[in-house]
Amino acid sequence: MKEQLNAILLDAKNQVENSQSEADIEALRVKYLGKKGELTAILKQMGSFSPEERPKMGALVNEAKQELETLIAEKKTELKSAEQLKKLQEETIDITLPHKELKVGKLHPLNTVLDDMINIFQSMGFDVVDGPEVETDHYNFECLNVPADHPARDMQDTFYLAENLLLRTQTSAAQIRTMETRKPPIRVICPGRVFRADEVDATHSPVFHQIEGLVVDKGVTMCDLKGVLEQFAHEIYGSDTKVKFRPSFFPFTEPSVEVDVTCSECGGKGCRVCKGSGWIEILGAGMVHPNVLRSCGIDPDEYSGFAFGIGLDRLTTTRYKISDIRLLFENDKRFLDQF
Ligand code: DAH
Repeated sequence: MKEQLNAILLDAKNQVENSQSEADIEALRVKYLGKKGELTAILKQMGSFSPEERPKMGALVNEAKQELETLIAEKKTELKSAEQLKKLQEETIDITLPHKELKVGKLHPLNTVLDDMINIFQSMGFDVVDGPEVETDHYNFECLNVPADHPARDMQDTFYLAENLLLRTQTSAAQIRTMETRKPPIRVICPGRVFRADEVDATHSPVFHQIEGLVVDKGVTMCDLKGVLEQFAHEIYGSDTKVKFRPSFFPFTEPSVEVDVTCSECGGKGCRVCKGSGWIEILGAGMVHPNVLRSCGIDPDEYSGFAFGIGLDRLTTTRYKISDIRLLFENDKRFLDQF
């Protein structure tokens, strides 16, 4: 029986040594150590030995069993870690591979220009304020020195929502809201969308954007207006850009001006964009009319101010040489991806 035991053990050791997977080794455990296993079968033969031999043989079989159990357990651990290693190697990420193209969102060109403008005015001490797009007649016209039936109402074709409710035609409405809630010194800009019942073409859209500016303090003069707007134009268009102040009319300013800059397309020679004049109009401005200050409870004998309204769309189309304003609103990805 001793030989039989040795033969089984040798055979089992060989097979354990050569097994390739955890499943193989489990099959071997069942084959030798399971209930119907070969070593178990030997134990069952114990009855045929004499009482003196039985403990010796029992000890031998148990020793063999233990040896095989240890061997199987060791091989199991070995195979397990080998399999784990293999799995890890298969799942390794090759960080030297080129990555897939990432689609990253971009700022709309209007927002890029707006951000630049906000930076310029903030560096001059202006706060940014917000105003509603749906306005009352009171803020959009009345307090801006444009009473009902005033001919100046015809300057802007208005979308009315109800008797006294409209889509603001100008960010100037924010001037009034600001003066009602803040005390001088006031230095604010208010960017936003405005609406007019205009026909759509390459230079007109019923929705466009303005940046309103307002400064109110003691002793504010036309020189301050010129200085601030000239500085702004130079920062946006470059310091060699010429800036021209033309007399104009707005009901809420007196005196009023319109500001032109050298055409960025032709450098002032005259072209299709500036209609041959060499100049591009970028904003309207003026000294705040005493009636407007009064309508907000500010004494025009004590305070003065200037205001301006800049067209953001025109600034954007001229900066990027965009030939049609409609492109700014159509959200065609092929167009927007170019910026
Ligand atoms: N609101 C004017 C417009 O839409 C632009 C403007 C002109 C705004 C003069 C002002 C200003 O604040 O002082 O045409």
